[in-house]
Amino acid sequence: MDERLRPRVEIFSDLESLSRAAAIFIGERLLRAVDERGRASLALSGGSTPRRLYQLLVSDSAPILPWEQIHLFWGDERWVPADDPESNVALATETILREVDLPPENIHPVPTGSATVEEGALRYEEEVRAFFASPDGTGGLPTFDLIHLGVGEDGHTASLFPDDQALLETDRWVVPVTSPPWRPPRERVTFTLPLINTARTIVFTASGRAKRKVVRSIALDQESGEKRYPAAMVNPTEELVWYVDEESAGSSTIDG
Ligand code: 6PG
Repeated sequence: MDERLRPRVEIFSDLESLSRAAAIFIGERLLRAVDERGRASLALSGGSTPRRLYQLLVSDSAPILPWEQIHLFWGDERWVPADDPESNVALATETILREVDLPPENIHPVPTGSATVEEGALRYEEEVRAFFASPDGTGGLPTFDLIHLGVGEDGHTASLFPDDQALLETDRWVVPVTSPPWRPPRERVTFTLPLINTARTIVFTASGRAKRKVVRSIALDQESGEKRYPAAMVNPTEELVWYVDEESAGSSTIDG
């Protein structure tokens, strides 16, 4: 019996409207986490799709958030300096961190200054473990309140690429990977499925005709969909939501 959560799929006319709706939803879930547990843990993605979403997350079109009680992590990071435009923390800096006052201790970037990518992955896992082991944590189990993920045209998510050994990882929460040549930067650090799948809520965003095959296969045709896509292996504990546009869904309604 497949215990996979059924994804809720929201289809919008364009990237702007899907980003607005996703920002409101993410804001509401972060508020709920702070209300219920006194803090919220959010893991961000990289790539180009989320730029507008992250800008809206700190705009007046989303709920006003208690950023001093929100902790930011990254579901993956490219092995480049933090100020490299290719880095995922640079995207968040341009869109979120410049706009709100997060206490420095609430910002948990991947330590890309480590000597090696393996050391960086080990240190990041230690940071995640320490965060969830703290007194107001969840007794050591990692339970991100919300992880935002994108999806590649090959069905990758975070930096988990099809047929990669990292997909078979069952113990480690963070590992180093090498992306395919067509998706540089090659060296990366990524959350593994065991860490991703203990999240309460996972939000995917996808936009554009190039994503249609994977969006339809993973989000809309879950039964017959391609199971080898890493994004199809994502299965959080409470909510799985896809915010997509008509271009990527190939229709304006779910059964279209
Ligand atoms: C990364 C992202 C990656 C991204 C997808 C989609 O570091 O590249 O975490 O998983 O979400 O590649 O990227 P686009 O939004 O640019 O299509």
